[in-house]
Amino acid sequence: MKIDVISIFPEYLSPLNLSLLGKAQSSGLVEINVHDLRKQTADNHNTVDDTPYGGGAGMVMLPEVWGKTLDPMLEENSDLIILTPAGKKFTQKMAESFAKSSHLLFACGRYEGIDDRVRQHYCQPEYQVKNIRVHEVSIGDYVLGGGEVAAMVIIEAVTRLIPGVLGNPLSLAEESHNDEGYLEYPNFTKPQEWRGIAVPEILLSGNHAEIAKWRKAQAEKRAKENL
Ligand code: ADE
Repeated sequence: MKIDVISIFPEYLSPLNLSLLGKAQSSGLVEINVHDLRKQTADNHNTVDDTPYGGGAGMVMLPEVWGKTLDPMLEENSDLIILTPAGKKFTQKMAESFAKSSHLLFACGRYEGIDDRVRQHYCQPEYQVKNIRVHEVSIGDYVLGGGEVAAMVIIEAVTRLIPGVLGNPLSLAEESHNDEGYLEYPNFTKPQEWRGIAVPEILLSGNHAEIAKWRKAQAEKRAKENL
C-alpha cells in the first residue's frame, strides 16, 4: 500500500517511522511519503492561508496550494482523505475498507480547515471515472490543532490490517467489533496472584470451551459498561 501525507508540519509525522510501521516500511509492505504543503506556495512568505469570505475568526487554507500539491499525487484508485472534525466518524469498519485500498492520500488541514472547493473539485466526474474517492473523516467529537494526529491514528489502524504487518496475525482474528463497541475480554499473565488479586480460576482450568464462553460474556459486560 502507498500512503502519502500532506502537511505544513511534516516533522509532526515522524512517529510513522517507528515500531510496526517502521518495520512494514522496511519490508516493503507499506510505502509512506510525507510532503510539505509549503513547497507549492507561490510567494516569499510561503503563505498557505487567508481570511474567510463572509467573515469570522480564524484562517482558511488556500485552494490553489492544495490543488497544485494534490494534482500530481492523485492516481487511479486513490482514496483522498481530508481530515476534519466535521467529517464522517472513523470506525473499525472504515479502517477495514481503507485497508483494501492501494493508495491513501491524507490532506492534513490546519486553522479553520481547507477551502471547501478542494473537496468539491476532486468529487467531480473526471476524478470519479478514475475511481478517485474523496472522504472527509473525523477521528472523534473533539477539535484538534490540525489533521496530523488524526492521519496517524487512521494510518495505524489501517496498516495493522494489511496481511504481514502484524507479527502474529491471530491477534487480528481475535478482535471483534459490534454496534456497541469494541469487544475485547480482560487479559491476564504471570504471576497467578498479584497484590492480592488472583487470575480468574476459569482461565487456569484448561477447558477451552468454558474459557471462550467466559471471555465472550466478559467482553460484552465490559462493552456495555463503557457505553
Ligand atoms: N482536525 C481537527 N480536529 C479533527 C478531528 N477530530 N478529526 C480529524 N481531523 C481533525
